[in-house]
Amino acid sequence: MLSMSDLPRIDFHSNEYITKPLETLAKLSKIIKVGKSERGVEILDYNLCRDAILDRKFGTGHPKLMKVLGLEEGPALNYKRNSISFHDRGEKRRRLRMPITKLMDPKGSERFRNDIRHVVKKTFHEIPKNREVDLIKFLCDKIPSRVYCYWINAPQEDADFVSRTSHIVQQVHTRDPTTAKEVSIGFENLLKYVDERIKISRKALGDDLLSDLIRITDNGDLSDDELRNWVVKMAEANTDNSSHQIAIAIIELASRPKIWKLLGENPDLVPSALREVMRYHPRSLSTSRETLVDVELEGFFIPKGEAIFPNIGAAHWNPNYFPSPEIFDINRPEKPSHLNFGGGIFSCIGRFAVTIEIEEVIAYMTKAFPNFELIKSCFNHSPMFTSVEELVGSLVD
Ligand code: HEM
Repeated sequence: MLSMSDLPRIDFHSNEYITKPLETLAKLSKIIKVGKSERGVEILDYNLCRDAILDRKFGTGHPKLMKVLGLEEGPALNYKRNSISFHDRGEKRRRLRMPITKLMDPKGSERFRNDIRHVVKKTFHEIPKNREVDLIKFLCDKIPSRVYCYWINAPQEDADFVSRTSHIVQQVHTRDPTTAKEVSIGFENLLKYVDERIKISRKALGDDLLSDLIRITDNGDLSDDELRNWVVKMAEANTDNSSHQIAIAIIELASRPKIWKLLGENPDLVPSALREVMRYHPRSLSTSRETLVDVELEGFFIPKGEAIFPNIGAAHWNPNYFPSPEIFDINRPEKPSHLNFGGGIFSCIGRFAVTIEIEEVIAYMTKAFPNFELIKSCFNHSPMFTSVEELVGSLVD
């Protein structure tokens, strides 16, 4: 059997990856199924990626991530240790996820649609028309953080704090120890904020997600700490990812004016167009796992405790599964499905809610602004994420 040192090397700092990340991954995925980068083992084949995401031999990669980051002892690390991310497969993970996955399943998430529509309409209403606007600031950051405020029944004015703090704490994925201090402070601020919101909500429960979670806690299905950790986790995982994926969707669709017009006239096509956006240009370029036992992967011996990265970008651009992956085709079949939200017992809790959010943004924007002008945009691709660094446009009415 071959060893880890025999794995082909993948260099995410190469000029090729930096300038054409998905094309580079597509090329690699044609020649190798598994490789090694400076962060760990990379899985490039779609089926192997999906299997690794679901396989019981692979557990959560978060504890290792915190070590790489060097997060000091204190409230932030304590929260991380007790949150869902640190729990491996098993009864505790299942018990923790059960109530919230039910509240946020397709039916549960549908009940957010009206509030989401309201947020989308209000946000577009506030954006100046017929002039250059920073759409990250005025639109993409605002929508998910405002929706989160609805979830926890907080004043809409809190949205800017939620969005800023989510961007700060998501830096955990940079694996850059220089961000550790800022990340710690971000988590501490979020913990204090959430404690306060729970205290306020407890006084008068309503018809919102936080009230439902409090009821579940009062029934004994979650402890007070677990409740608090979920509400923090939802801010942590929500705003930053969602804001970038909204921006990616706008850029990919608006840079194809025929598709933009088509969606404005046929909103029924928005869900399939969005599926193709998430296949063609996913926010999640990988997810992370760690080997719980020694494993054999495509003839390579991978010892217990190794960091494993199912490389979603490579899987989505693998021509064996997605013919002509470089072609943006909103009529692609639904299967194989995209892996932007991971899967199985680790899958993204907010995947149905955020899909509704982006659908509503695109449906509104293509209908109300068929002549939207995309003026400037800029992506940055780390091995983990696609980020939108600039999105300037004009809402031509
Ligand atoms: C487009 C936006 C989003 C993307 C691309 C995204 C992607 C992901 C991915 C890839 C994972 C890891 C899955 C795995 O490893 O198998 C994840 C986990 C998670 N996501 Fe999302 N997410 C998004 C939005 C949200 C939202 C809106 C929420 C709010 C509830 C959320 C909550 C979570 C939670 C709680 C987890 C951890 C689940 C666990 O460990 O059991 N995400 N997300």
